Amino acid sequence: MSKDIAKLELLKEIMVREHGLTNVCLEELRSSKNPKVQLNWLKQNAVLKHQYNEEKLIFTKLLKKERLKEGGPFCVLFFDEHVISPPAQLVKKYTTKDLTYCEHQDVFKKDRSPLEIPLEEHVSLENLLESLLAKPDEGLIDHPALVLLETLFHRHHEKEEKCFFKICESLLLPHEIDEILSLWMPMTEYRS
Ligand SMILES: [Fe+2]
Ligand SMILES: [Fe+2]
Repeated sequence: MSKDIAKLELLKEIMVREHGLTNVCLEELRSSKNPKVQLNWLKQNAVLKHQYNEEKLIFTKLLKKERLKEGGPFCVLFFDEHVISPPAQLVKKYTTKDLTYCEHQDVFKKDRSPLEIPLEEHVSLENLLESLLAKPDEGLIDHPALVLLETLFHRHHEKEEKCFFKICESLLLPHEIDEILSLWMPMTEYRS
């Protein structure tokens, strides 16, 4: 395996491993007596670390690629679902408001980039988590929004591993992968 391919594989391994940790937490959430423990973990790790890294370290690099802008939807999997059942609409049922984006996310929206689609999934997950964390403890166990949260996370992971990784493979340059790894590695417990 060449050095560059090995680094790309390492980046994918880190992301898959972090998806796996999120899945374990979602599994625990199903039978949790105190769902806010898991919801807080998801916000601190799956959103504020993992998703933030994807956006700040990877999306920002992809945004500059002409090839990303050239040809239609960059991934059928992302695009289909965006049209059929937009996550923003699904979470609005529980949050009762439109999505709220952070400052660093505005650039992906303003640019009308295809990255707006996975970004909508990130923000939908974050907004749903925040709305669940703001609810009183009573009634949170078995709340129907927990099922939606799990479904949206699973679908998002599947799409990233089947499709987003391919985009990274074809568009990221070796020195960009180096840079991503150097910033992401210290933030993950993972060591090769
Ligand atoms: Fe993501
Ligand atoms: Fe991810």
